[in-house]
Amino acid sequence: MYHALAGRDLLSIADLSRDDIDAVLDAGALAKGGGHLGRPLEGRCLAMIFQRPSNRTRVSFEVAIQRLGGHPIPVFSQEIQMGERESVADVSRILDRYLDAIVARLTSHRDLLRMAANADAPVVNAMTDREHPCQVLADLLTVREATGGLRGVPVAYVGDGNNVCTSWIYAAAICGIDLRIVCPPGYEPPAAVLETGQALRGDGTRMLLSHDPGPVLDGAAIIYTDVWASMGQEAEQQRRREDFAHLQVNDALVARAAPGARVMHCLPAHRGEEITDSVLDGPQSIVFDQAENRMWVQQALLALVFAGAVP
Ligand code: CP
Ligand code: NVA
Repeated sequence: MYHALAGRDLLSIADLSRDDIDAVLDAGALAKGGGHLGRPLEGRCLAMIFQRPSNRTRVSFEVAIQRLGGHPIPVFSQEIQMGERESVADVSRILDRYLDAIVARLTSHRDLLRMAANADAPVVNAMTDREHPCQVLADLLTVREATGGLRGVPVAYVGDGNNVCTSWIYAAAICGIDLRIVCPPGYEPPAAVLETGQALRGDGTRMLLSHDPGPVLDGAAIIYTDVWASMGQEAEQQRRREDFAHLQVNDALVARAAPGARVMHCLPAHRGEEITDSVLDGPQSIVFDQAENRMWVQQALLALVFAGAVP
């Protein structure tokens, strides 16, 4: 029986062990294959706070919570006005009295840490400026489905050293993935993230950070990209379009990776910017499987947090 995740927060991928990640992916695969994860959320209410727009995260969490017997309560920022109407700490203390868990997409990772520090209930990071752990758990399940494993898989991350990239660095270190990152100068992941990634390195982990797509794409089994301008960076969109133009994931770039390499994107995509229609809708794309997997891994995660084990 696997109890290591019972009652825990998920704020960062760096908080997870390889066993934790495997337990989530195995339970997610079980659910996806028709297995029943029980109803550990029966009679429980979970808040889902969104300070940023969302399609996949909110809907897939709502479905996952319902499937486990729980009741999701979406709370939007215009209503709660966190930090304006009330402090983050007070919002958290109040929700903690009413609810069994808080799933939060917050603009600031610091606010998420503040929220977790003021709630005994588990807090799950549904994306901040710093990390997107639930996305990357779904990504890992998708890579495992596509390649049969994780250890040593050559993954080319093409784009911005952003929140998704950070979660990928931690996941790759913990799971022994051969992660290669290519970004324009000035868009590298933060130095502290790279240091933490180094500290987490396990057996087989390889990490390359380059401004040259050549060595990053050479032999890559997975090509991964994300938007050039994340939510909140809209004012930089034009400058970023220019700086990242040579890293567009188009047919020519995909042809530089291993034959049959799979293409992933966390979505939403800015079609025609970081990725072309022909790649996103093409035979090597697994982006819609990837998006579906959000629902299965989140169901698995919540089952492990609340039941400690899956039946
Ligand atoms: N990938 C992802 O988190 O999508 P949403 O922003 O639509 O939730
Ligand atoms: N990096 C993107 C991910 C969206 C799911 C953002 O933060 O907007």
